[in-house]
Amino acid sequence: MEIKNKIESLTIEYGGPWIFNHVQRVLNLIKIIGENINYDEEATWYATYLHDWGACPQFNPEKVELGHELRSRRVAETILSDCELSDSTKNIIFEAIENHDYRTCNHINYIETTLLREADFLDFLGTIGIAREFARGPKDLKICYEQVIARRDGVINKLTLPKAKKIAEIRVVKMNEFLELLTKESFGYL
Ligand SMILES: [Fe+2]
Ligand SMILES: [Fe+2]
Repeated sequence: MEIKNKIESLTIEYGGPWIFNHVQRVLNLIKIIGENINYDEEATWYATYLHDWGACPQFNPEKVELGHELRSRRVAETILSDCELSDSTKNIIFEAIENHDYRTCNHINYIETTLLREADFLDFLGTIGIAREFARGPKDLKICYEQVIARRDGVINKLTLPKAKKIAEIRVVKMNEFLELLTKESFGYL
């Protein structure tokens, strides 16, 4: 089986629709924010598919969210160990994976890292960002509401690419409208 097919089906097997569809959204976002930027599409494809594998139960039985980027890097190193990609492409992939998370102190040498990070950040914003947090749970509206805000505030000042900033600006307006409405409609009882 070709390596890319294998990675696609393992992403579904390990991460289910939660991770697989997040990957598709991130790939779409990279296309948009990376327009007019010269980057290695191949490396970006691998980095995007593999970046959250370390959060999947297969590699994270204790369900710890923090540190998943390092686990993902290690898994990526293993799965790509005997594929035909050049060492320089692999370095780009590994750096992007290891540094994608907004909470870690990041080393960014490659534009592909920036693209993955900022596309990943955007998936925390807007209606999709809200939907993800309420789906993630726990079944406690107040906690989910606070998680939405923590994600929004965690990523918003870390965006650097002009197109990503523009999308973020629009998403945050919608997000804030929703949060305000939620507070009103719930009479503050979340
Ligand atoms: Fe992640
Ligand atoms: Fe992600």
